[in-house]
Amino acid sequence: MATTMMLEQARAHLQQAQRIAVLTGAGISAESGIPTFRGAQGLWRNHRPEDLASPAAYARDPAMIWEWYLWRLEKVLHAQPNEAHYALVQLAQNKQLTLVTQNVDGLHTRAGSQAVLELHGNMTQSRCESCGNLDAIPHALLLEQRTIPHCSQCSQRARPNVVWFGENLPAAVLEHASEAFYHCDVALVIGTSGVVQPAASLALLAQDAGAVVIEINLEPTPLTARLDYALQTTASAGMRQLMAPPFIL
Ligand code: OAD
Repeated sequence: MATTMMLEQARAHLQQAQRIAVLTGAGISAESGIPTFRGAQGLWRNHRPEDLASPAAYARDPAMIWEWYLWRLEKVLHAQPNEAHYALVQLAQNKQLTLVTQNVDGLHTRAGSQAVLELHGNMTQSRCESCGNLDAIPHALLLEQRTIPHCSQCSQRARPNVVWFGENLPAAVLEHASEAFYHCDVALVIGTSGVVQPAASLALLAQDAGAVVIEINLEPTPLTARLDYALQTTASAGMRQLMAPPFIL
């Protein structure tokens, strides 16, 4: 679908847009070396999500769940944001851009994006099970001692600050994200399989409200056929194509 003409049209829409809403998924961090969830190398290839990312799994064996998150966190702490993360920072310089992510790796913020709406939480933090206080995870210490973190304020046990299957998304974050997609001129959907709700419905919310929706993904998704433009390529190549000169920021 991404013929030269299609690409030029998508570029023109992006260039002219004032309000842009962006949804990213694990695919945008794949080029930073962070594993995705679905697909041949995905985290869910060998594990059922409910065995590792659910309240029931944590209640059964908190130490095992923490070990899994610390393993993932180690990859994140050794990774760097990639060209696609940085392209979104650049795009926000003269557009009203709302960045919504399903990723818990914090790479958008590390790249320099402001006010990122993290729908599924942030893996670099722990959240007190008692008072809800957030702490940065002392990763090296935990790995060394093979312990699970406790709250810096009330000393109670803390869990990963992520949303698990069966849990609600943070209501205010979801509301803010929905508003941004409802009111945007262009929505960009980058590197998400589009199968986990409610994030997946944001693109259609934007389209139903009259926005142009552009997808960047290595593969077709359940959303592809319904969207206006689909660039079947990597997140970094897709952003490079969309923002190549003479794109004026
Ligand atoms: P998935 O792993 O489901 O999908 C990743 C998508 O990125 C796929 O559609 C790939 O084709 C695409 N992809 C892979 N590499 C890419 C690249 N270099 N450039 C562009 N696209 C690429 O990840 P998500 O859609 O983010 O939730 O998953 C959604 C949620 O399901 C996650 O937030 C997580 C998971 O279970 C929870 O843990 C609650």
